[in-house]
Amino acid sequence: MLVVIKKNKDELGKETARVISDIVREKPSCVLSLATGSTPLGAYKELIRMHREEGLDFSKVTTFNLDEYIGLAPTHPQSYHYFMNENLFKLINIDERYIHIPSGMVDVNDINRIERYCEWYEEEIKKAGGMDLQLLGIGANGHIGFNEPGSSLGARTRIKTLTSATRQDNARFFNNDINKVPKYAITMGVGTILESRLVLLVASGKHKAQAIKKTVEGPVTAMVPASIVQMHRKAILILDEEAGSLLDVQHEQYVTDL
Ligand code: PGA
Repeated sequence: MLVVIKKNKDELGKETARVISDIVREKPSCVLSLATGSTPLGAYKELIRMHREEGLDFSKVTTFNLDEYIGLAPTHPQSYHYFMNENLFKLINIDERYIHIPSGMVDVNDINRIERYCEWYEEEIKKAGGMDLQLLGIGANGHIGFNEPGSSLGARTRIKTLTSATRQDNARFFNNDINKVPKYAITMGVGTILESRLVLLVASGKHKAQAIKKTVEGPVTAMVPASIVQMHRKAILILDEEAGSLLDVQHEQYVTDL
């Protein structure tokens, strides 16, 4: 595992975009698995700039997204469909046919159908040749995607009930009203994530420092789903100084520049 610590969120975004754009340049038909949240935003901005100014070409790229709230239509401003369109897809030359985001419009009472849908999503990843990159944010509670603490480390794409901590964290996007935050989501599992050829986890800010310390220096445990990156053969963590502030900086793998 490589831990890269950048000065601030801006530098973190640029470094993240650099890693992603290297993959796109090397393999134009790569498969990227993308994440929502505030942390990847700087990277998406930089990728858009690279597309506009340097001609970074996404026309053959396939994308999958990690997760989506159940109950939100793609046009809902808090849906992850909307987020990805507004913050990346409509601003680059990606082919819509190659974009995959779990549907939020499944019937939560029809569990058999949801299971079939999740199996189909996993099949699509396989058919595309597997993921070259999995971009991940991390929750203050150590979640990745909507794999909350306690999630099975072998799990595949499935429906998850959100913890009240996560719903509370996300209430700020729903007029600070936790009742408006969906209760369920579809998320790739930790097992799905682990199969990506590269895992790139990004974290910014003091409120992530504890989760990062547990992820990097704690035991691998389902109680900190992000800690599974320790088991991955090629994982890169890009942090800003605040998110990395509790790490043992004497460790030789911690570099400040690549
Ligand atoms: P954030 O979310 O990037 O908005 O902090 C990360 C996450 O909860 O996975």
